[in-house]
Amino acid sequence: MTGDQQYWTSRPEVGSRPDQVSLLLPDLELSLGTDRGVFSAERVDRGTRFLLMEGARPPEGAAELLDLGCGYGPIACTLAVRSPGSRVWAVDVNERALDLCRDNAAAAGLGNVVVTTPDDLPDDVVFDGIWSNPPIRVGKAALHDLLSTWLDRLAPGGSAHLVVQRHLGSDSLARWLTDRGWSTQRRASRKGFRLLDVAAREV
Ligand SMILES: C[S@@+](CC[C@H](N)C(=O)[O-])C[C@H]1O[C@@H](n2cnc3c(N)ncnc32)[C@H](O)[C@@H]1O
Repeated sequence: MTGDQQYWTSRPEVGSRPDQVSLLLPDLELSLGTDRGVFSAERVDRGTRFLLMEGARPPEGAAELLDLGCGYGPIACTLAVRSPGSRVWAVDVNERALDLCRDNAAAAGLGNVVVTTPDDLPDDVVFDGIWSNPPIRVGKAALHDLLSTWLDRLAPGGSAHLVVQRHLGSDSLARWLTDRGWSTQRRASRKGFRLLDVAAREV
């Protein structure tokens, strides 16, 4: 992110300066367009990379997957490659990020990515899996609202996979989730990042 401007505004005020970053994983390589005003425009974020390297893979036969807070799309595009039979919803509030994600999916030939604002995602869709490097910096209350909204759209038996920096409150977030019925396990921990696996609430 360039300067202090918040990357979660719908229309970033910083001027555009398109760039290209590479996402290299053991099973795929993607070239992704980025720009100023979106999260981690200079390189794929280390936390995101950790989630994609060591986080859960999409379940066999999954129909609907969600990348919550997709940015320019490293997670959504990876899910789409790894689970070609799934529809991958890529959701963000930042319009510049949404445009980049849409272009990146198209450039990679990934016809199974649907890029949308949260409001335009149909209410009746439920997710077999959610992946997110969530926008912790929006503040605790907003983050809790955001996660509550989307975790309640997990299908029965579904799970969410989050990467959160330890110094930004990963452990207290895990406790908060568990206390509210989303059983949360720490899957891995490395260089200040935690991967959290969150199970759908029992109804
Ligand atoms: C930490 S960034 C991760 C971006 C991308 N997934 C990545 O790994 O590079 C979090 C993203 O959440 C988005 N965001 C913030 N508030 C949101 C909301 N209410 N609904 C959906 N996305 C939101 C931000 O715009 C930002 O792109």
